Amino acid sequence: LSINRQIVLNSRPQGDPVPGNFRLAEAAMPTPGPGELLVRNRYLAMEPATRGWLDDNDKNYFEPLRIGQAVRSIAMGEVIASNNPEYTVGNIVRGLLAWEEYSIATDDTILLEKIALTPGVPPSYYLGALGGSGETAYVGLHRIGRIQPGETVVISAATGGVGHVAGQVARLHGCRTVGLVGSAEKARIATDELGYDATINYREKPDLVAALRETCPEGVDVYFDNVGGATLDAMLLSMKMMGRIVCCGMIASYNKPDDPPPIFNIWQMVARQIEMKGFLLYSYAEHIPDALRTLESWVRSGELRVLENKHVGLERTPELFCDLLAGRTTGKSLIELEPA
Ligand SMILES: NC(=O)c1ccc[n+]([C@@H]2O[C@H](COP(=O)([O-])OP(=O)(O)OC[C@H]3O[C@@H](n4cnc5c(N)ncnc54)[C@H](OP(=O)(O)O)[C@@H]3O)[C@@H](O)[C@H]2O)c1
Repeated sequence: LSINRQIVLNSRPQGDPVPGNFRLAEAAMPTPGPGELLVRNRYLAMEPATRGWLDDNDKNYFEPLRIGQAVRSIAMGEVIASNNPEYTVGNIVRGLLAWEEYSIATDDTILLEKIALTPGVPPSYYLGALGGSGETAYVGLHRIGRIQPGETVVISAATGGVGHVAGQVARLHGCRTVGLVGSAEKARIATDELGYDATINYREKPDLVAALRETCPEGVDVYFDNVGGATLDAMLLSMKMMGRIVCCGMIASYNKPDDPPPIFNIWQMVARQIEMKGFLLYSYAEHIPDALRTLESWVRSGELRVLENKHVGLERTPELFCDLLAGRTTGKSLIELEPA
């Protein structure tokens, strides 16, 4: 038990990340200092935002990773040593840790919290639909989008980690839901498994504005944007007067930090008096418990369908992350680490 296997940044991606941008490394097992915890990680979340931290620039909300540094990531695991009286050995915790077998957590660890697992609910759900992804969907739709029953809500990346929950949260609130997806299989999953009222496969319908006019003839009340770029541009032309755009993510730009896809229709914010607001989940911490309670109750009742893209083994991490950034996944992408 003296080695900590990690996935570290090997080189900075040029555009799309490739598995060779990362490498498996062995570090010494960390020792918790005063007030710190030692966590044996069990699940690692794959998050598109990680892509931004791989670049050496100041365009992001966390510092760039250093070459050789373990990749920062939301992870969940078990406390195996504690110098903090609020945590005991055996507690399950989640927070912004790293792609590694063992992490040190402190009171400053972002989003660090104890997780009360529910019998009958798979623990990995607490890193996806019952973790940051589901909570982002719920908090973003309610707090930023202020969704109301009867409204038309469009969601991009509709079958992804955040999107597959967002579609169901909006539907369960009585909204009409339309999912934007990148393949016929994703369209099938969106309607058959997730209950979207309609879907648009933007690869088959390159004139997205025309497709949206057909699917939402009266316009869109709320757009939950996971993508940015050309999709956001088309949505600006598809909103109702006083519509709301929830800026959750802009994955279409993440691999092109110096040459992001242009937005031409920003004037529509004035012409249609659109409200467009970005948010990061960790700034809405006070709303997370309510979101989690509701999402958990829907999982237990079977009303919320959870999609996971789970792979086993630390060494699979780079490939899975690259698949996520290339749009090849559905549901929450995560790595399960084998028990020690
Ligand atoms: N604000 C927050 O606090 C917060 C928290 C978590 C996540 N996020 C953001 O939420 C978004 C979704 O995250 P997620 O973890 O749920 O990822 P995800 O949706 O599981 O995966 C990304 C999906 O984006 C879609 N996509 C559209 N255009 C793309 C492009 N140019 N390149 C690659 N993929 C593209 C693909 O779906 P299709 O093939 O269907 O288009 C792809 O499968 C991301 O933008 C992420 O940064 C924000």
